[in-house]
Amino acid sequence: MYVILLGPPGAGKGTQGVLLAEAQGWERVVTGDLLRRARSDGTPLGREAQRFMDVGELVPDDVVVAMVRDRLACLQGAGVVIDGFPRTKAQASDLSLMLGPLGLSIDQVVVLEAEDEPLIERIAGRRSCPECGAVYNVFLAPSIRDGACDNDGTCLEHRSDDHRDTVQNRLDVYRQVTAPLIEYYDASGIPVHRIDADQTVEEVQGAVTAALGLPR
Ligand code: AP5
Repeated sequence: MYVILLGPPGAGKGTQGVLLAEAQGWERVVTGDLLRRARSDGTPLGREAQRFMDVGELVPDDVVVAMVRDRLACLQGAGVVIDGFPRTKAQASDLSLMLGPLGLSIDQVVVLEAEDEPLIERIAGRRSCPECGAVYNVFLAPSIRDGACDNDGTCLEHRSDDHRDTVQNRLDVYRQVTAPLIEYYDASGIPVHRIDADQTVEEVQGAVTAALGLPR
């Protein structure tokens, strides 16, 4: 099953994507992580992406689509959760074109919905592990040892695009450019599940699992 996770910054796409993948044994395609990895590796693609990410703008479609194409070619699992892609109609149509020849298609779309204010608070407190990708929140879900990952002890990072002005721009870009994809997928006939993301992590997880018709 191929599932897209849509939603504004801080809605919990990463958090729920990890939980879903762990529970179902699925793989994840996470464009934000792929871009951050390219940036920290100092690749030409990473350097190109950095100037857009730093100000909360979308990285150009051709850069992201090329990266996703490479990632899709490596997938082997029966289930895949795609987090952070597509974000434009051009990306959505390229995704269908990439999956078609592989005999695949998007089966379901999950939209995590929330107002801006709680999201800004969540993002301000977010810390993530650069090694395993685990996500914490200093206010809401801290790691056991301050500043270190519970899984591997790596120093947790505060993302460079998690500052207030950048976050507001990321939210604006989401509302203007990415949110219209919800109607796009509604019109395509693919099931679209709208989940209230302003609940506890466990409640959102339960709602996502139920909406997708998956065992817990
Ligand atoms: P990306 O990394 O995808 O960032 P984003 O979409 O802004 O989403 P976030 O990672 O901020 O939030 P999330 O929804 O994953 O929430 P999380 O689970 O971490 O993209 C970054 C940049 O890369 C973009 O701005 C763009 O420049 C570029 N980019 C990426 N993809 C692109 C594409 N396709 N095209 C073009 N450019 C692209 O949770 C957030 C915090 O809240 C955490 O601390 C977590 O612990 C906490 N939390 C989560 N759920 C809950 C809950 N239910 N209750 C309380 N706290 C919670």
